[in-house]
Amino acid sequence: MLKVGLIGCGFMGAMHANCYKNLADVEIVALADLRREKAEELAAGTNAAIYGDGYDLIAQADVDIIDICLPTYLHAEYAMKAMEKVKYVFVEKPVALTAEEGDAMLKKAQETGACVQVGQVIRFWDEYVALKGMIESGKYGKVVNANFRRLSPRPTWGWEDWLLDNARSGGAGQDLHIHDVDYALSLFGEPKTFCSVRNVLGEPKSYVNTLMQYEDFVVGVEGTWDLPASYPFTATFRVVLEQAVVENAGGKFMLYTNDGAEEIVIEKKELVGGVEGGNISDLGGYYNELLYFCEQAKKGASIEKATLADGVSSLKFLLKELAYHA
Ligand SMILES: NC(=O)c1ccc[n+]([C@@H]2O[C@H](COP(=O)([O-])OP(=O)(O)OC[C@H]3O[C@@H](n4cnc5c(N)ncnc54)[C@H](O)[C@@H]3O)[C@@H](O)[C@H]2O)c1
Repeated sequence: MLKVGLIGCGFMGAMHANCYKNLADVEIVALADLRREKAEELAAGTNAAIYGDGYDLIAQADVDIIDICLPTYLHAEYAMKAMEKVKYVFVEKPVALTAEEGDAMLKKAQETGACVQVGQVIRFWDEYVALKGMIESGKYGKVVNANFRRLSPRPTWGWEDWLLDNARSGGAGQDLHIHDVDYALSLFGEPKTFCSVRNVLGEPKSYVNTLMQYEDFVVGVEGTWDLPASYPFTATFRVVLEQAVVENAGGKFMLYTNDGAEEIVIEKKELVGGVEGGNISDLGGYYNELLYFCEQAKKGASIEKATLADGVSSLKFLLKELAYHA
């Protein structure tokens, strides 16, 4: 039985807790949240130990893996402490707030031998996994251009409104747009050049639009979270290949070729639970990433997907986007 310690029991902590409950031979044995009632809610019906500050869990709990679902500005501090305690540490995305923090985490992982996975969940989301496979197979030729978009209502659910405080979350760029940036980098690597714009009106850093120029194709990545509460959370892509277009939009995953249009149906695993109150309630990709993480931990194997190095690279590219001026 893999013993899990979960730090941060807000929106994402609840999502992860539900995922662990769907995994065989995995048990949450310790939970920490400054709002103890949040930890108690997730522990209901179990014997899990409850802590307030995450430091107490790290110091006292008997766990095999530690999962950090804290606000972003706390990631580096708690993840490094966790690396001193256990070999397997999962830290939510973005990996940290600053490049310096990212580098310090890499150094600590090297010193301790910790295996760290970052919650860049899009790398594990079914449609995005399928798209990667289609591109890599070469079946429909090379990429001609691609577009990734992520649009969200304002994230108002966070503890002490930390998400709306750029100094603690990094704003929409670091928190939301990084999902697609990380995915694009995982597909294509760093572009030859790029240009990026951000909104100048309204809440700073709430809209980012970046064009990445590769040798023979272009990728656009757009993200915003300044939309009204009634606007549906939207994550879409359209990839134009030489002999097909693959599109994930409006709840449909489609393949268009000169022979016709076809919906690609992905069989989804039946999962128990779901989380309301944030901008997404589907366990899908979260389950997949934690399944991978726990399987690697059970085998004592290294983390090869959504690694700490991947997370730091994506953060550094994102920070270059936010600093870009034409
Ligand atoms: N992968 C995704 O799609 C996705 C989606 C949403 C959030 N996230 C990430 O997950 C992380 C958490 O975001 P959230 O939306 O769950 O925020 P949240 O505000 O809902 O939850 C954070 C929790 O941490 C607790 N906390 C704060 N300081 C603490 C401490 N020192 N010790 C113990 N508990 C403490 C708070 O009480 C709160 O319950 C962030 O890094 C965010 O970017 C990822």
